[in-house]
Amino acid sequence: MTRGLKYDIPGRDWRIDPDQVLAQGWPGVFADAPGGSAPSPRPRSQRLVVEIGFGRGEFLVDQAERNPDTGFIGIELSHKRCLKMARRLARTELSNIRLLELRAERVVSELLTWKSVDCFWINFPDPWPKKRHALRRLLRADFVRDLALRLRPGGVVYVATDHPEYAGQIATVLSGDSLLSNGYAPMPYLPEVPGRLATSFEIEWRALDRDLHYFMYVRV
Ligand SMILES: C[S@@+](CC[C@H](N)C(=O)[O-])C[C@H]1O[C@@H](n2cnc3c(N)ncnc32)[C@H](O)[C@@H]1O
Repeated sequence: MTRGLKYDIPGRDWRIDPDQVLAQGWPGVFADAPGGSAPSPRPRSQRLVVEIGFGRGEFLVDQAERNPDTGFIGIELSHKRCLKMARRLARTELSNIRLLELRAERVVSELLTWKSVDCFWINFPDPWPKKRHALRRLLRADFVRDLALRLRPGGVVYVATDHPEYAGQIATVLSGDSLLSNGYAPMPYLPEVPGRLATSFEIEWRALDRDLHYFMYVRV
């Protein structure tokens, strides 16, 4: 137990585990909600959106509120952040978010089927700035291929980073995948995207006047 953390969930707990997904499939997992029908071959939501590393979760909550008929999967490695998000969600009326406290690499390769996802959001992934840690970065060619295979044709992967060197790596691996096409071409990325909700990291980096890099790649 981490000291100072509150563990009680004041309502429905939307955290799920891999066994549930494997047993029920995503339509079943999303149908299992107040007001949702019993698991059936027809999903409650036809659209599936995934946020990787949701952090404090404000972006995920905002998206889910705006798109009540879409199923949202929030993936977060940090136990503390996942727990806090579960507590936060339990106080809302939202029933279209499911949380997984796991590494995104595992969720994507083991729990998401090919051509099933409409959109991935990866906002400000950890940059691992030290050279000897660069292999820990999430956006590598093998992971990008895994994401591309899970996207439906026309589906989109959005990535944002403040870190210039990581931005170079992200541009290389996204543009190097033959299943993806740059939605912002001829620009490799945009420095800002009007109307986009800022995440907590984004707000911090903007206050420090850092250059930001927004990527959008579409499954061909
Ligand atoms: C720099 S924070 C950004 C948080 C949030 N997206 C934002 O923009 O405010 C990166 C987040 O990704 C999570 N994370 C890092 N590696 C991950 C992985 N392999 N799978 C899932 N989450 C991961 C971290 O725990 C952290 O919450």
